[in-house]
Amino acid sequence: MARRSLQRVAIAMAFVLLMITQSRAQECGDSTPVEVPLVFGLSRVSRSNLQKDSLATVGIAPPENVPEVVGGFPARRVLAKYTALVGEDSRGTTDWFCDGSLINALWILTAAHCFQRRSASVVRLGEHDYSTSSDGDRHEDFLVGEVVLHPEYLRPESYHDLALIKLGRRVVFNSHINPVCLPWGREAERDLTGGAVVITGWGATEHGGSGSTVLQEVALTAFPPSRCDQSYSTLPQYSRYWPRGIGNETLCAGDPQGGKDACQGDSGGPLVYLDERKRYVLAGVVSSGYGCGLQEFPGLYANLRQAPYLRWIKKVAFT
Ligand code: ARG
Repeated sequence: MARRSLQRVAIAMAFVLLMITQSRAQECGDSTPVEVPLVFGLSRVSRSNLQKDSLATVGIAPPENVPEVVGGFPARRVLAKYTALVGEDSRGTTDWFCDGSLINALWILTAAHCFQRRSASVVRLGEHDYSTSSDGDRHEDFLVGEVVLHPEYLRPESYHDLALIKLGRRVVFNSHINPVCLPWGREAERDLTGGAVVITGWGATEHGGSGSTVLQEVALTAFPPSRCDQSYSTLPQYSRYWPRGIGNETLCAGDPQGGKDACQGDSGGPLVYLDERKRYVLAGVVSSGYGCGLQEFPGLYANLRQAPYLRWIKKVAFT
């Protein structure tokens, strides 16, 4: 008798434990650090043909003599939980041409301009250094089901640079793969101006440079959009890309001193902040910029905290 109830208690406890670990793993924005085993050997692959359509490659090149490092460092693995690689398979190799964010078990949020010249066939989650398969990450590849561009994205205009990728199968969340939170409800009203945000990406570490195989992170300051509007409006291509100016549809972020920025290949990737509950919440999607890391030209991000953007995401990916 006693033995039996002990057994029941044990089963119940195991169940509760399972529920706790399950629910923790399923929550968005999980900021618990990732434990990684020791690193063995290395094998190299290259990342070629990065998405090259930032302003620098569409005509006006920024000055050459400016230090254009983007000022990041290898990302904490916790940020790799939701940062996705978007790739195109061609001739037996995968070209990782853009980044994205895992927002739920089936959908990745990325940038619409990524698909101007490329088409996505595969998404990789849980990756950190894609040049090696023995660095302790537990990455998984997913075939692309469909790509939904924001209906109002109208190139060459830079507005509404958002796209959703539906995965071919559901993601099972674990300690290495977990979605980022979206700024639903009141969260979108939070004033981020002057606050710290973090971007992650496998893009170039300097203007004109090649992509990094190791995920990089960099902390930036969110500026009011007027700051970007002021400097970008001096560029000849302003009226073509931003005919209605740079406003609240855009998140403007950089470093007050310059030197920290997203760059080519980071497109579609996440810009997040940490909320009071220590959850990573997505605030922006890497879209464009003039050069990389120039003090006067902070990076431009689709501002997810706009109600119409959230409504579109909800309609496509959360119903
Ligand atoms: N359009 C670029 C890409 O395709 C992203 C550029 C971001 N540039 C910047 N300076 N913030 O990867």
